[in-house]
Amino acid sequence: MNSVKYFVTIISIFLLFSCKPDPADTGDLTHIAYSPATYTLDVPSHFPVMNIPADNPMTKEGINLGRHLFYDPILSGDSTMSCASCHLPELSFTDGNAFSKGIDGINGTRSSMSLINIGFVKSGLFWDGRVKTLEEQALLPVEDPIEMHHKWPELIGQLKDHPEYPVMFRQAFGIKNKNEITKELAAKALAQFERTIISKDSKFDLVQQGKALFTDLELIGYGMYFDNDPDLPQSECGHCHNIPLATSDAFFNNGLTSAATLDDFPDIGRGKVSGSKADNGKFRAPTLRNIKYTAPYMHDGRFKTLDEVIAHYNSGGKDSPNADPLLHPLKLDPFYIKALKAFIDTFTDTLVYKNPDLQNPFK
Ligand code: HEC
Ligand code: HEC
Repeated sequence: MNSVKYFVTIISIFLLFSCKPDPADTGDLTHIAYSPATYTLDVPSHFPVMNIPADNPMTKEGINLGRHLFYDPILSGDSTMSCASCHLPELSFTDGNAFSKGIDGINGTRSSMSLINIGFVKSGLFWDGRVKTLEEQALLPVEDPIEMHHKWPELIGQLKDHPEYPVMFRQAFGIKNKNEITKELAAKALAQFERTIISKDSKFDLVQQGKALFTDLELIGYGMYFDNDPDLPQSECGHCHNIPLATSDAFFNNGLTSAATLDDFPDIGRGKVSGSKADNGKFRAPTLRNIKYTAPYMHDGRFKTLDEVIAHYNSGGKDSPNADPLLHPLKLDPFYIKALKAFIDTFTDTLVYKNPDLQNPFK
């Protein structure tokens, strides 16, 4: 019994000393090697080139740090929520909800977005394109009161006192002292990780590379998607969700809301960013890659299934002054709807979410 007490005392003394910041610890990190390894993205030849900011080159160490930060609930005010809470790999980096809830249980007003092929987006991030770069975007969820509701200065303090992060920041960015950890470096690492979330192994991609063939039904859907066969009904999808990324990366009003005037949209979307009324009710056309996993659909998650989405387009959408002219009743019968869905399903890529390099590093 005594020996147990003795042992407990020793452990307590040990813990007491090990938990207190060591006054001799100057935060110096220069004894740790800084030799970042350049990382080359694996982008197939039928893809566009990804623009990578000159001041944030991709390195293995930067991506590794970003991946840890992405999955670490330390980023939220009560340490319960990480980026991945709303961007789950198995749901193509969305959260399966119409509106995302933050740590205080408050619902946001828009649906979480897929992060696959996010590095290729040029027109601006978010449904309304209000943010230019991933580096800028990554700063926002942490302090957003309806998302992670934390404070960057506090979070930086936690990262400095963390047993592993100072070393990872040293290895990624060459900081000499842990006091040099900043939110901008954290955001750079997150952006590097996000640029590696590339979906490129769908059946559609294999066909592009001559490694697979569409079935007859998929071929009919293909012709409808791109309106390139006069014998098939048109669907217009490919104008706004064009290949290879299954998005034109541009803003449209796709007829979700009936509005008598341009002031009648409940969420004006792009109009708030551009300041032009003509953009009210427009949102960025998202990618249809892995659309199978990103329900519910649209910026407000109004459609639960792809069938509801197609029924919407098939009806020609709702009227408003700037509804896109490509919207008109498509008159697709069940066979052609099936064919269109079969083609869209060729955008499904299960390898991206099973990719071990994109998984939670803490598991
Ligand atoms: C509470 C849920 C939630 C959390 C936590 C969250 N996000 Fe999001 N994310 C969203 C929602 C909702 C949107 C769309 C918001 C909008 O358009 O206004 C979004 C959009 C994005 C986009 C833009 C995608 C695009 O296609 O334009 C990126 C990038 C992103 N989030 C990255 C992150 C990162 C990095 C973190 C962690 C630092 C994070 N998110 C944490 C819910 C969340
Ligand atoms: C005029 C351009 C345009 C056309 C044509 C178009 N879309 Fe869209 N699509 C958009 C826009 C813009 C959004 C986002 C709207 C929003 O959320 O407010 C969208 C959203 C979607 C979504 C939801 C994506 C998500 O992640 O929530 C799906 C699915 C979709 N479209 C499929 C299709 C299909 C199938 C067709 C053809 C039948 C089609 N679209 C035709 C512009 C278009």
